[in-house]
Amino acid sequence: MEIRYAVPSDLNGLLNLLKDNHINSIPEEEKKNGFITTNITKEQLYSLMENEKGITVAVNDSNHVIGFALAGSWNFWQSWPLFTYMIEHLESFKLNDQILTVENSYQYGPVCIDKQYRNTGIFEKLFSFSLKSMADHYPYMITFINQVNPRSYAAHTKKAKMTESGTFDWNNNHYWLMAIQTK
Ligand SMILES: CC(C)(COP(=O)(O)OP(=O)(O)OC[C@H]1O[C@@H](n2cnc3c(N)ncnc32)[C@H](O)[C@@H]1OP(=O)(O)O)[C@@H](O)C(=O)NCCC(=O)NCCS
Repeated sequence: MEIRYAVPSDLNGLLNLLKDNHINSIPEEEKKNGFITTNITKEQLYSLMENEKGITVAVNDSNHVIGFALAGSWNFWQSWPLFTYMIEHLESFKLNDQILTVENSYQYGPVCIDKQYRNTGIFEKLFSFSLKSMADHYPYMITFINQVNPRSYAAHTKKAKMTESGTFDWNNNHYWLMAIQTK
């Protein structure tokens, strides 16, 4: 297993993993173990990888993608309606008394670990690599977690040491807004 920046040949594997864990593909009884709601194209992934160095992958010994974490500037994410909403409301959230802004923070997620590799410590390593990769550019990292995704909340609070800066509602979903200092 290796954690590293993505290269172009990882993108198909990443998209397959994303598709398998998307809310539209997961049976209802499996949703407690997490799901992804973001839709992203191969072209958008390529741009995130090339222009922002924003894709971290975990690969197995056959160099097959078994996990990924996306991270990018608000400028990159702004065309997704949920992120447009988050950008508009960002400054009402704080971490350590600092107002969160589009300049001092970036957005991490979605993140995913292939089902058969969960609870093995890969999540912590992937998270840590992704966080460090942006630390020289931004003091704060922000993400959102759907309140009906308890596994993601547990992983990000217990394993990644993120804290809740508040909650918000969007499109009939309730979210936690999570933040962490990058250094
Ligand atoms: C979210 C995700 C990346 C976390 O990685 P992971 O390898 O599963 O994380 P871990 O198992 O190490 O940690 C999760 C913790 O939640 C606990 N947990 C498991 N199922 C849970 C549930 N239904 N409710 C609450 N906690 C739960 C685990 O026990 C573990 O804590 P512990 O090790 O102290 O017991 C992974 O589950 C995943 O990819 N899910 C599908 C996609 C997703 O939801 N992505 C995040 C939203 S974008």
